[in-house]
Amino acid sequence: MSTQIKITRITTANVREKKIKGEKIAMLTAYDYPTALVADSAGVDIILVGDSLGMVVLGYDSTIPVTMDEMIHHTKAVSRAAQRAMVVGDMPFMSYQISVDEAMFNAGRFLKEAGAQAVKLEGGAEVAEITKRLSSAGIPVMGHIGLTPQAVHQFGGYKVQGKSKQAAQKIMADAKALEEAGAFAIVLECVPAELGKSISEAISIPTIGIGGGVHCDGQVLVFHDMLGIFDRFTPKFVKKYANIKEQQETAIKQYVDEVKTGIFPSNEHSF
Ligand code: KIV
Repeated sequence: MSTQIKITRITTANVREKKIKGEKIAMLTAYDYPTALVADSAGVDIILVGDSLGMVVLGYDSTIPVTMDEMIHHTKAVSRAAQRAMVVGDMPFMSYQISVDEAMFNAGRFLKEAGAQAVKLEGGAEVAEITKRLSSAGIPVMGHIGLTPQAVHQFGGYKVQGKSKQAAQKIMADAKALEEAGAFAIVLECVPAELGKSISEAISIPTIGIGGGVHCDGQVLVFHDMLGIFDRFTPKFVKKYANIKEQQETAIKQYVDEVKTGIFPSNEHSF
């Protein structure tokens, strides 16, 4: 007797199909069990456990200090929650640049230990070889070009990329190199909308924009930015859909006040 396994999770094939059909892809970051539960049940197609974890959850100044162990720990929690969304683990700084072998080992950890279905790594033509090796080993790779935050010191800040003709041509060439190497999708961060449009039209795999304009095949935002939980720094591409930090503060102030004045706990919350 054959057992039928019903797979309802979004796959790389579904993501490509969405581009062909012109259906937009909604991607959002999440870093723990409760946030991934909400993202998954709200219909997010891809949950990215981004190394933005370092800034919005762990309190680092950039994504550079984030370690593989931190990423694995948080990706495990996200994987326990996500039923429908594809989970993508973000490879942190220096987890894939040293050698192809180390990149293979670290990417494998995201799938074997943390339950992710794919990995993301920053860079263009220079990571094409790694992308090819990972893809041929059965590890789906999402590329990330334009503004790549792990290279912030090389860029001299978080700036829009691809503004000159030459810079735009380089980003276009990077997109084509990643497609050729087997990436299943590419994040386009902070590039002029016109360039986002040209790249999306020039390649067969989906582009996921974050400050890449409306013509990208999908969009991604950072959970804590779009819900107004993290407000130390808000890039222009962020749309705030809620102001959760304010609501949290109001609720916690009320709790503190009620504890101090003896209003809480009332009989209702006592035994
Ligand atoms: O780390 C992250 O959250 C990301 C997205 C913003 C694309 O790389």
